[in-house]
Amino acid sequence: MAKAKAPAGRSTSSRTTGKARAPALNGHANGRVAAVATAKRGWDYAAAPETVKVAIAERYGHFINGRFVDSASGGTFETVNPATEAVLSRVAEGSAADVDSAVSAARAALGAWQALPGAERGKYLYRIARRIQERARELAVLEALDGGKPIRESRDVDVPLAAHHFFYYAGWADKLAYAFPGVREPRAVGVCGQIIPWNFPLLMAAWKIAPALAAGNTVVLKPAETTPLTALRLAEIFLEVGLPAGVVNVVTGAGATGAAIVNHAGVDKIAFTGSTDVGKRIAMAIAGTGKRLTLELGGKSANIIFDDASIDQAVEGIVEGIFFNQGHVCCAGSRLLVQEGVVDEVVRKLKLRLKSLRVGDPMDKNTDLGAINSRAQLERIRHYIGLGKGEGAELFEGGVGGAGGALPSKGYFCKPCVFTGVQPAHTIAREEIFGPVLTVMTFRTPEEALLRANNTPYGLAAGVWTDKGSKVLHIARKLEAGVVWLNTYNRFDAASPFGGYKESGFGREGGLHGLKPYVNVDG
Ligand code: NAI
Ligand code: MG
Repeated sequence: MAKAKAPAGRSTSSRTTGKARAPALNGHANGRVAAVATAKRGWDYAAAPETVKVAIAERYGHFINGRFVDSASGGTFETVNPATEAVLSRVAEGSAADVDSAVSAARAALGAWQALPGAERGKYLYRIARRIQERARELAVLEALDGGKPIRESRDVDVPLAAHHFFYYAGWADKLAYAFPGVREPRAVGVCGQIIPWNFPLLMAAWKIAPALAAGNTVVLKPAETTPLTALRLAEIFLEVGLPAGVVNVVTGAGATGAAIVNHAGVDKIAFTGSTDVGKRIAMAIAGTGKRLTLELGGKSANIIFDDASIDQAVEGIVEGIFFNQGHVCCAGSRLLVQEGVVDEVVRKLKLRLKSLRVGDPMDKNTDLGAINSRAQLERIRHYIGLGKGEGAELFEGGVGGAGGALPSKGYFCKPCVFTGVQPAHTIAREEIFGPVLTVMTFRTPEEALLRANNTPYGLAAGVWTDKGSKVLHIARKLEAGVVWLNTYNRFDAASPFGGYKESGFGREGGLHGLKPYVNVDG
């Protein structure tokens, strides 16, 4: 009892007296500098570093036919920790020959896998889900190290949701005949090529692999080049649970490796999540081949605040909508639309809130914004910030970094940004930035809010904040967006379909809708 009390007492006193015990914030500061910074701000947290250590091998091969193998060419590439720029590991670079081996293995495994009773396939999925839970902390740490997201998010969102997707689709494996009434014998589509991005590496692998396996398909998965490590850990889990060789294969590499999967004649279906540009290229490449395709692409989602909303709650939702995962979220609420009467209050409270967001070490459990995923992405974000200023919008930067408010000296970091004075024609109001950058615009009537919200080539998500149920239903029905959140934002559930309209793609992932692209319902 006394033991448990002591740390709690200490942390309370350090907060109330304003004397942080530890090197403040993210451990980059020495004690003296930290104390000065603390005194300036009047209060501070002690650092709360994640202490679990995760073993990372110097090299990783592809996972093909149940074994880890080097590239046929011997090629490798580095994956770095974007918070420190240190190289974490070297990973095999997949060539057309490696993709061919993986597709052959998936093809060879297909017959036996789809012939298994659904309940047996379900057992493997349940085992995978449980093993993800058992290795949750390790996966969370690895995800934060390889991709830069705060450990708090990988621990509380990415990893539990990844397990949830396997649990959810395990339940469908023996109920396919009930899932698609009228279809006598729902069958698997075949070999699925799945290409995923770097913003939710493990979670996107789960979104794609779980429904594919439940329906009896086999898989060749390519993780993004900056974040391959958790997909390879997942491959270890497949070995642990005895998943038959070839049912899931993981080939690592960059765009050329992805293109080799897209163009392989032995692939029956492509599922892609990533940029709209690459999605368009994939659609062109497979046009006329008879391959199936689902695309989950970019977004520029509107978050609409009506004047009858609970403003404090809405401000939290705005922050969650755009700064979750440093804004590397396809459905990020990046276009804030505020009803004119409350815009001053919303912007004032938002700026105040932004000042307290903590930017820095992803391994500190207090961190709100971790590292930007790569140098290239940081440059892209900076380019857009420059454009915004150049086009005449007004920039407000928030965020509390290390000592004196500075960002860490190494690594790729960006403070949370809000642009006011934005016009709908401004580039920053139209294009996906995929970073912690919010644009604020106003509207007068619900009709104008709808016009502005739908005035985009994208249509992935939207948020609506209001006290009035009737207004919610009226607006939500007319928003051209795959997901509409009401008085909340960025909530996900394995049972709920997710996907876009217009240039945000087509096809759904999650829920029963997410099973359909993996099932042949013609027979
Ligand atoms: P990207 O679309 O190039 O990368 C996503 C995945 O596609 C990666 O695994 C990549 O290796 C693969 N890929 C790249 N070229 C390919 C090709 N020709 N054929 C097959 N696969 C290919 O995205 P990138 O360059 O990393 O990010 C650029 C922008 O894209 C971001 O700033 C953001 O706006 C957007 N993006 C959107 C995502 C979303 O979830 N909607 C995810 C990642 C990026
Ligand atoms: Mg990395």
